[in-house]
Amino acid sequence: MKYAGKKGLVAKALEEIVNLSAEEKKAVGKKINEAKQEIQTKIAELQDKLSGAPSATALDRFVKTLPGKKPMAGHLHIISQAIEEIVEIFKPLGFTRVRYPEIDWEYFAFETLNIPATHPARDEWETFFIDAAADKQYGRQVITPHTSNGQVREMLKGELPIRMLSISRCGRRQEDVNHLQTFFQFEGLAVDKGISITHLKGTLDYFVKHFFGPGRQIRLRPYDFRFTEPSFEIDINCDLCRGEGCKFCKGGWTELGGAGMVHPNVLKAGKIDPNVYTGFAFGWGVERTYMMKSGTKIDDIRYLLNNDLRFLEQF
Ligand code: PHE
Repeated sequence: MKYAGKKGLVAKALEEIVNLSAEEKKAVGKKINEAKQEIQTKIAELQDKLSGAPSATALDRFVKTLPGKKPMAGHLHIISQAIEEIVEIFKPLGFTRVRYPEIDWEYFAFETLNIPATHPARDEWETFFIDAAADKQYGRQVITPHTSNGQVREMLKGELPIRMLSISRCGRRQEDVNHLQTFFQFEGLAVDKGISITHLKGTLDYFVKHFFGPGRQIRLRPYDFRFTEPSFEIDINCDLCRGEGCKFCKGGWTELGGAGMVHPNVLKAGKIDPNVYTGFAFGWGVERTYMMKSGTKIDDIRYLLNNDLRFLEQF
């Protein structure tokens, strides 16, 4: 330390060198550097002696074949992986991915979807409202509680037939093992002449077979959505308990999302003649759908957003 440390004699000498003439600098600098090297070699030898290793300088001891430290390589988050997979599965059926606002007017989130102002979904308990002035025609702004806000927006583009796959972030005021306040949905919409329930069922069967594998089952449960008629909820047999019932599912089945035939009022709001055209729609949660993939064994949806690498690196 006395000679070679950061504040040692060598360092001090190097500092003082600035006061010398150019020639003197050269000569003295050389001497100091030689002394420094000698001291360092001595220290290395001393260290080796103490540790019992063969005598070598620091450079000699450097193992040139030792592999360097690899930089951490990440991968897409599992939600992004799931979205990519969903998009690829629907592509051959002609569905194109689009995105619509994640903060939208009540008009598109509710009004045009046949959901009147008295519907519980308009309750602040379910939906996050933006603290901003309401628009006379479009109402208040909300964090979209579902991707169905894209339905009428897509129709208003005026291009028929429609094969839409809208995937966006949604928000609802609930959080537990199978709900997140921030989650993703994928929404399919097909509008054409002669679209019937068999097209809906065939499309969902096709998706389920490709996403979950051949061994899984879905069931359609009659339900009531205001913007589809008839409406269904789609359940899949739970991959965690294989039908026995567990903390995640309801008696062996887990709800993936809703579906149904587009209500004539929604077509009208989208300036499409319901006497000529019909359509089907479905909207499912991306995270839940991914969790139900065979073998993932994720029993709490909140893990997905915890950003714990020990969890994320498994996928
Ligand atoms: N928007 C509904 C929901 O979030 C799902 C749905 C979409 C139902 C399309 C029918 C048709 O629960």
